[in-house]
Amino acid sequence: MVLLDQRYLPQREQDFICNSLDDAIVAIFEMVVRGAPAIGITAAYGIVLMARDLYGRHGDQWINEMEPGLRKLSDARPTAVNLDWAINEMRKLISRYKGGDPVPVLLEKARSIHQQDIEANKMMGENGAELIKEKVGVLTHCNAGALATGGYGTALGVIRSAYQAGLIEQVYADETRPWLQGARLTAWELVKDRIPVSLIADSAAAYLMNQGKVGWVIVGSDRIAANGDVANKIGTYSTAVNARYHGVKFMVVAPTSTIDMSLENGDQIPIETRNTDELLRFSDTPVAATGCHGWNPVFDVTPAELVDAIVTERGVVLQPDRDKMERLMTTN
Ligand code: MRU
Repeated sequence: MVLLDQRYLPQREQDFICNSLDDAIVAIFEMVVRGAPAIGITAAYGIVLMARDLYGRHGDQWINEMEPGLRKLSDARPTAVNLDWAINEMRKLISRYKGGDPVPVLLEKARSIHQQDIEANKMMGENGAELIKEKVGVLTHCNAGALATGGYGTALGVIRSAYQAGLIEQVYADETRPWLQGARLTAWELVKDRIPVSLIADSAAAYLMNQGKVGWVIVGSDRIAANGDVANKIGTYSTAVNARYHGVKFMVVAPTSTIDMSLENGDQIPIETRNTDELLRFSDTPVAATGCHGWNPVFDVTPAELVDAIVTERGVVLQPDRDKMERLMTTN
C-alpha cells in the first residue's frame, strides 16, 4: 500500500510504503494518513496485508491469529469511528471464510470500501451544494478533502461542487492549530484545484463572520452520535458557537459510516489527546517557555443544536435530533 505522506505536505510529495499491518498502524497513528474516511480505508487495506502475512505463515489457521492485530489497529486513533466501521466490514467477510487464500476476496472488499467512499463524496457534494442558495464566502476547518477520504472530500467535496456551480466566491481556511491541516493540506488541495482560498488564523474566524465575509461554515466529522452531536477537529465547536452568534449557517458533511447510532450523545464519544510536543514545538523548534506544560485534545464535540445541516450520501438532515438521525439511518 502506497500512501502520500501527509506529514511532509506541502513542502514535498513523498510516499510512505506499507508492507504489513504494523506499517499501516504506524501510518495511522503517526498521521501519515489522517481524516476519518481515509483512516478507515487504510485500515481495510491494512487488514489485507495482515491476512497475506498470516496466511503465508499459518495457512487456513490464519484466522485464529488475527485478533491482536485488529485490536491494535482499532486503538490507533480512537475518535474516528470509520476505523472500527471498516474493521467490522472486513470482519463480516472474514467470518464467512471457508479456507484457501483470503487475499483476493479481502482485497476486493477493501477496494469496494474505497470506491464507495469516493461515490459517497460525490453524492454529498451535490446534496450539500443544493443547500447554498446564493453566492457566498465559506469557512472550513481542518482538512476534509481528498486527502482525508477516498477522494474528492466531504466538506471540500461540497465546496468543490458548489464552486463549480458558481455558488462560492471565496473559501477561507482556518489554519487549524496545532497540526495545521488547514494551512498545509486544505490550502494545498484548493490551490491545486484553482479554487480561491485565503488562510486565516483560527482566532480570526469570529471577526471574519463579524465582517459578513462568510455565509456558511462547512466542516467534516470524525463521529456523529445518535442525537446529531458532532465530533470533529479541535476548534470546530468554537467555530459553531461563533457561527450561531453571527447568523452564519453551519454544515457538517460526513458519510453514514461516520454516524455511530450506538452512542446516545456526544459526551460518549472518545476524544483523542495527543503528545503535547505537537503544541509546544513547531517542527523542531520550541515555541513555549521551557518547563511549560500543555494539554492537547485534538477533537471536540459540537452540540446538535448548533448544527444547521448534516449532509450524508443518503440525504440531508436539517436541525438534527435523535428522531431525524434514526429516520436517516433506517429508512434509506
Ligand atoms: O486529526 P485528523 O487530521 O485526522 O482530523 C481530521 C478531521 O477532524 C476531519 O475534519 C474529519 O476526519 C473529517 S475528514 C473527511
